[in-house]
Amino acid sequence: MTMSNKNFRLKVWRQEGPDQEGRLEDFSEFSKDVSEHASFLEMLDLVNDRLIRAGKRPIEFDSDCREGICGSCGCVINGQAHGPERGTAACQLHMRVFRDGDEITVEPYRARAFPVIKDLVVDREAFDKIQHAGGYVSVNTGPKPDANSMKIGKEVSDRAFDAAACIGCGACVAACPNGSASLFTAAKVAQFALLPQGEAERGRRVVSMVERMDELGFGHCSNIGECEAACPKEISLDNIAIMKREYMKAVFSGH
Ligand code: SF4
Ligand code: FES
Repeated sequence: MTMSNKNFRLKVWRQEGPDQEGRLEDFSEFSKDVSEHASFLEMLDLVNDRLIRAGKRPIEFDSDCREGICGSCGCVINGQAHGPERGTAACQLHMRVFRDGDEITVEPYRARAFPVIKDLVVDREAFDKIQHAGGYVSVNTGPKPDANSMKIGKEVSDRAFDAAACIGCGACVAACPNGSASLFTAAKVAQFALLPQGEAERGRRVVSMVERMDELGFGHCSNIGECEAACPKEISLDNIAIMKREYMKAVFSGH
């Protein structure tokens, strides 16, 4: 073993299909001599390569961009959605955060609204359904304005930008003991509620998205804050306050 390589005691959730029983399986024999410079997903790639060479079924997991942008790589690592590093998606986590000999347990997101498809892969279509309920601007907002012609205060544009940073990964749902999608939905509501382009559909949007979220089997928000702690984009709980305020305003004004 070279100086920068480590051995891990890897346990991964194996589940053949949505209706099958799952179990933790020990892959320690395949997770030896791993470079500490490897990303977490590269470590899984290496394990899979070794599994395939040994004639075994590789571990199914989701990934796409591997740059913390697409939101597809979520899984629960040692009990934490996206692993132990704050503000970091699983694809950006590196094996150097673990010590040689560490036990690493990897499980899929656990939430009623995110059924397991296979191993670490869960169905997050419920997020798309919330988004389809109003997380866009459909009205004609005119041609692209000239630079600096639309006056939006720096503080407001920063808040809208921070909300828009949500990558739809679902870690907030997995981390919440209630399985609530409030942080995700709130980020999508707030990014438009704060900007003039979102104004025309403001009331309809929040009512429709919140109602869709409730229908899809997500739990309620009880201000526990685990969502914010697990979020790789550090989306603030303030967005949930914005969503609740927007919702009440819309309901009382008859939307
Ligand atoms: S709010 Fe954060 S944790 Fe939830 S989906 Fe968006 S980026 Fe992921
Ligand atoms: S693979 Fe795209 S955010 Fe991790």
